[in-house]
Amino acid sequence: MNSNGATILVVDDDVEMGDAICELLRQNNHSAAGVSSGAAALEFIKQNEPDLLITDLRMSGLGGGDLQLQLKTSAPQLPVIVITAFGSIQTAVESMKLGAFDYITKPFENDEFLLVVARALETRELHREIGRLRGELARNYGLPNIIAANPKMVAALEVAQQVADSAASVLIGGESGTGKDLIARALHFSSSRRDGPFIPVNCAAIPENLIESELFGYVKGAFTDARQGKAGLFVAAEGGTLFLDEIGEMPISLQPKLLRTLEDKRVRPLGATNEIAVNVRIVAATNSDLETAIAHGRFRSDLYYRLATVTIAVPPLRDRNEDIPLLIKYFLARAAAEAGKPIPEIEPDALALLLRYRWPGNVRELQNAVQRGTILCRDNRITVRELPPRIAGDGVPTLNVLEDLATQRVTLDQLERNYIRAVLDSVSGNKTETASILQIDRKTLYRKLEDSPEAAIPDPPGKPGK
Ligand SMILES: Nc1ncnc2c1ncn2[C@@H]1O[C@H](COP(=O)(O)OP(=O)(O)OP(=O)(O)O)[C@@H](O)[C@H]1O
Ligand SMILES: [Mg+2]
Repeated sequence: MNSNGATILVVDDDVEMGDAICELLRQNNHSAAGVSSGAAALEFIKQNEPDLLITDLRMSGLGGGDLQLQLKTSAPQLPVIVITAFGSIQTAVESMKLGAFDYITKPFENDEFLLVVARALETRELHREIGRLRGELARNYGLPNIIAANPKMVAALEVAQQVADSAASVLIGGESGTGKDLIARALHFSSSRRDGPFIPVNCAAIPENLIESELFGYVKGAFTDARQGKAGLFVAAEGGTLFLDEIGEMPISLQPKLLRTLEDKRVRPLGATNEIAVNVRIVAATNSDLETAIAHGRFRSDLYYRLATVTIAVPPLRDRNEDIPLLIKYFLARAAAEAGKPIPEIEPDALALLLRYRWPGNVRELQNAVQRGTILCRDNRITVRELPPRIAGDGVPTLNVLEDLATQRVTLDQLERNYIRAVLDSVSGNKTETASILQIDRKTLYRKLEDSPEAAIPDPPGKPGK
């Protein structure tokens, strides 16, 4: 990291001293400016946005401490090094409490002084880098980057936009791979908490006996292995968002403590006598049906209502066909960029298959299919051959038919009877051949036919009924 060339403002009412410091800085390739009062410093900072402020503490007029106080609101990112007279350690301590980066005691060694300056500039550069990265994250993860054309999906994202900047807890529901994680991040990065941390916790991935200490933290000696205390994830998310993913997996025994923490906005680490105030926004997600979990006593309704101030239901991909071409286009571009290839085209029959498929794995499955196609395709054209077999179809009954039957709530018994009849029809009523196709013996076939006097599922159009 190169901090040379940074602009440093030196404030000292002892002009000679100020000049000497500026000269030292210039000799070391910094650009330095000197002013002799706190008021002049404020004016300079407003105009020139320096990278570092070095200020004497005791000055006539606005002193170094007051200057620091004012800058806390007007230029909170500006690092401050204070210069104190030998023997006034108390004032140095106060400056540090006000957030000074460091202090230097007069008289000082040049090398020691330059080292502190270098560290301050490096820290400043790191903060800038973090700021840039956060900006990038916000652009990548913002709500506008979530692809949606389907009206239900668009409406869900509108709700997300409306509540993003509120303190309300949001519960996101939807099947696996529908985009819950993406929405949770977008809520954070579209809120004024975007500069704070976004901490995801997958409640299903943490062993049950560790969730409590992970979330709430513990103090030294709280249990045998606790040689040191540890701040929990609630504390880590201070000023930001805690994303409780797969909240349905939260052990019932922990739910009262979680509820209390959310209501009181205070956490009590394991083994601690005191509570810590926390300012954390909660977003939770689930792909299970929490209402059924409540009915079965696996989830507390009071916690549910606390989490679900606003709910966002993400529809499954099969119910938002409009989104599929847009998502394909987006994933094609991404996969091509990752593979260092030009963006491939999808042949019409392959596209038709993608549009007809039921997508049990939702957007994640689509993303994988497109990625696979991009990697495998030749001549930059994705054909049916490059689609995963379950999508391309491999002669096994199509998932679509079975899923349609599932929505009709057809029983296994009905399904079996009707399948037997269909096979029988297909071989013009030849029972021996039917038994051989079904790999059952003739006796079993006869018995099954006798047991099934009536067809329960209407025959498909065009096929003779029996
Ligand atoms: N609308 C969308 N636009 C762009 N990418 C999307 C969209 N929806 C989902 N994705 C992508 O699909 C993948 C799966 O989404 P995500 O992880 O958010 O799903 P999820 O609902 O959290 O799944 P799970 O329940 O399995 O945790 C991610 O890579 C995500 O970036
Ligand atoms: Mg997820």
